Amino acid sequence: MSAAGIPDVTASPLAGALAQIAQEIDATFDMLLPLPGDARQCLVEAMRYAAMGGGKRLRPLLLTSVAEMYGVSRDSAVRAGTAIEAIHVYSLIHDDLPCMDNDALRHGKPTLHIAFDEATAVLAGDSLHAFAFEVLADPATSADPFTRIELVQTLGQASGWQGMAGGQMMDLVAENSEFDLQTVTRLQQLKTGALLGAAVDMGAILAKVPYEARTHLRGYARDIGLAFQIVDDLIDYEGDAALAGKAVGKDAAAGKETFVSLLGPERARDQARMLIEQAIQHLAQHGPEADVLRAVARYIVERNH
Ligand code: IPE
Ligand code: IPE
Ligand code: MG
Ligand code: MG
Ligand code: MG
Repeated sequence: MSAAGIPDVTASPLAGALAQIAQEIDATFDMLLPLPGDARQCLVEAMRYAAMGGGKRLRPLLLTSVAEMYGVSRDSAVRAGTAIEAIHVYSLIHDDLPCMDNDALRHGKPTLHIAFDEATAVLAGDSLHAFAFEVLADPATSADPFTRIELVQTLGQASGWQGMAGGQMMDLVAENSEFDLQTVTRLQQLKTGALLGAAVDMGAILAKVPYEARTHLRGYARDIGLAFQIVDDLIDYEGDAALAGKAVGKDAAAGKETFVSLLGPERARDQARMLIEQAIQHLAQHGPEADVLRAVARYIVERNH
């Protein structure tokens, strides 16, 4: 912190990288989502309300950090990062709806269906979902059509029934089931791990790193993905709504089995820390160029929001 209380973004490489990606993602949404001068205006206003000015931007940060390690142009990486963030934002809009978690606070402000209305929130989610694939399929993201197709396929798989949406379904079923640790692990890998994994993968795809040469990155992504959701559950269990910018205490109230309910908070945190050490070990073949990925892994367990 500076004397004026303004965070010093040069204090750590991670703080600088987080501030930079936040600014770039906001600027890209701003550029690609102009307000139309007709009755669709409230739809685009709603998309911008949900997508801009909030969130840690972890998925774009992972994507651009991997891309940078392999020398991809910043512009391509930020566009692909904006696409995956659009999927993430859409998933949060729908997750907060009354038919799902029924939450009123997100990123420290009213959720989209409260600030606008439910129908607009559904349509803004739909439109951000479509927007993501439109951005990836645009030659401005990559000049190589094979790369674009691989990006679309990777994000599609990670978003739908084999990924995030499938995990969300399991999460709803979890409210009325007695899931064991193995099933909760699977649920979390889909609900959260799939998109985090896609972020890492997409950075490498942009760089044309062959599938076999990305095994260690998949290992890294799997471990941080699981640790990330354990910490999300810990924030829900013991976190502070003002810091988190969203309601807490919801999982227990809904009777949901999570790592915290199954292991207890201490063992859950130990498990998250162990996963982070393991994730960092997967990067052993890299030098300082992977320092941001190492810092992101540590940030995932130490964060409070
Ligand atoms: C929260 O994700 C929802 C989950 C997938 C558990 P983030 O913590 O990454 O959400 P942001 O940073 O508020 O966008
Ligand atoms: C949501 O999980 C994960 C998504 C795929 C959107 P949660 O319901 O635990 O996320 P929060 O706690 O509301 O952010
Ligand atoms: Mg939920
Ligand atoms: Mg929720
Ligand atoms: Mg949660």
